[in-house]
Amino acid sequence: MSRVITLLVFIGPLLAFGSSEDETPICQILGSPEFPLLSKEGVVMIGGAFSIHSKITQPPLSFTEKPTRLTCSSVNLREFRFAQTMIFAIEEINKSEFLLPNISIGYRIYDNCGSTFTSMRAVMALMNGDERAVGKRCSGQSAVHAIIGESESSSTIVLSRTTGPFKIPVISHSATCECLSKRKEYPSFFRTIASDLYQSRALAQLVKHFGWTWVGAINSDSDYGNNGMAIFLAAAQEEGVCVEYTEKFHRTEPEKLMKVVEVIRKSTARVIVGFLAHVEMNDLLEQLSLHNITGLQFIGVEAWITADSLVTPTSFRVLGGSLGFAVQKANISGLEDFLIKDFWETEFNCKEKTETPCKESQDLMELKDYDDDVTELRYSSNIYKAIYAVAHSLHSILKCSKSQGCENTVNVTPWQVVESLQQVHFTIKNGEQVWFDNTGAAVARYEVVNWQRGSDDSVQFKPVGYYDASLPLGQKFVLKTEDIVWPRGKTEANIFIDSNIYIDVSCLTICYFE
Ligand SMILES: *[C@@H]1O[C@H](CO)[C@@H](O)[C@H](O)[C@H]1NC(C)=O
Ligand SMILES: *[C@@H]1O[C@H](CO)[C@@H](O)[C@H](O)[C@H]1NC(C)=O
Ligand SMILES: *[C@@H]1O[C@H](CO)[C@@H](O)[C@H](O)[C@H]1NC(C)=O
Ligand SMILES: *[C@@H]1O[C@H](CO)[C@@H](O)[C@H](O)[C@H]1NC(C)=O
Repeated sequence: MSRVITLLVFIGPLLAFGSSEDETPICQILGSPEFPLLSKEGVVMIGGAFSIHSKITQPPLSFTEKPTRLTCSSVNLREFRFAQTMIFAIEEINKSEFLLPNISIGYRIYDNCGSTFTSMRAVMALMNGDERAVGKRCSGQSAVHAIIGESESSSTIVLSRTTGPFKIPVISHSATCECLSKRKEYPSFFRTIASDLYQSRALAQLVKHFGWTWVGAINSDSDYGNNGMAIFLAAAQEEGVCVEYTEKFHRTEPEKLMKVVEVIRKSTARVIVGFLAHVEMNDLLEQLSLHNITGLQFIGVEAWITADSLVTPTSFRVLGGSLGFAVQKANISGLEDFLIKDFWETEFNCKEKTETPCKESQDLMELKDYDDDVTELRYSSNIYKAIYAVAHSLHSILKCSKSQGCENTVNVTPWQVVESLQQVHFTIKNGEQVWFDNTGAAVARYEVVNWQRGSDDSVQFKPVGYYDASLPLGQKFVLKTEDIVWPRGKTEANIFIDSNIYIDVSCLTICYFE
């Protein structure tokens, strides 16, 4: 007996248009409403989408009744810090008498649980507004003035494509795919981080600088990894660097990962360029550790080179001596205290009193006493800058001044915010300047870091140079070679000089044909 199974695809709660007696359309939510994980009302509203939980489970489908809600588990501390930083910046501006004086700012932060599927629901909810208010008149206005997120390029693409037709500005703190620079496709997308165009080319220069002309290349099979690697390969060819192999895998493909490990094991290249998201790097690290493949020189990207989650008692054998580009650390006064103290006092006390069920975010309480990651706050400063960028653009649209206040009666359209964001240029409290270039991105500034052991034997990401695209030619890229510690603790780069032997006929052929 064969049976036809209809696959139902839910794309978030949509709005249906009905008609009241006087023919004014009335909005109604189709499906159950989606609630933010953290929220507070204000005149100006900023949305946020992060993967605060990283696992999603769908109860088995019966096909006879409406599917039950997806459940999210496994808290991602790093992403949770982003949400906290967002609230920190909003509260700071809310209190400021210079920026948006007398305007209260609120937020709606959604958890996408690491899935583009939930992400879609969150975006819909952000655009629709308060979904409890069923039967409202359709205002045609977005519920938020801007959305901050997401962390990964692929989910940011979903977000920007969905909000694009409504011209709602999206500002990402960490999506670096060069593909997001296409202004025609993503006209309302901004980021407080640079496109990988610079990082990929700088990687090729770094490899060339040390005379490593025979390298392996591995990337995440994602928008981030594929685009970044493609630019690196083109730049490497220009620099005369030969690539022995290029392999890729995705976190959902364990068999492919095994193949990659086999390729690494059999290859002769001692230097590996890893254009990987930290999830894939973590998978690769586990396998290399298991197979005792150690002592290779890893060259890394901003996504994993300073990821605390990669530091385990055994990982230094594999990744010690790694060299790569990191997002610069920024010291934002007051943030640390907020993350480990103030946040809990304000956010979770009130939660228990409201009717919003506290149960769903109960597991977050376990993070309350977790404070040993606050030293590696790199992306958090990008969140901070993104919130300030929104505030500065609204400040100018609403023609605010300290003495006159703001014209808060003006109805701000999302496109006005987009146009204003393109013009902002301001300085945050640590002295850093913020503006967006004509692709909506921040200027490329990286720290070059090296995995070393500190005097207390802990793993440290030691700064050994920088790359700053805003400086004149000849000063952009600086390396302090004498500070670098190489794999297996050697302090000279020339352990790799023998890899030059491989610039032979076969290498030239590979370069020639690629
Ligand atoms: C912003 O300030 C107003 C007025 O002081 C206050 O009621 C509101 O709770 C504040 N909002 C946030 C997000 O701090
Ligand atoms: C890896 O090395 C450890 C210690 O040196 C050894 O005990 C283990 O058997 C090795 N594993 C493999 C797969 O070679
Ligand atoms: C950060 O800045 C604050 C005040 O501006 C200062 O007291 C603190 O020492 C700085 N921390 C670091 C790590 O530079
Ligand atoms: C802001 O609000 C406070 C309290 O309502 C008021 O005293 C002050 O004059 C207002 N400032 C401006 C610039 O409107």
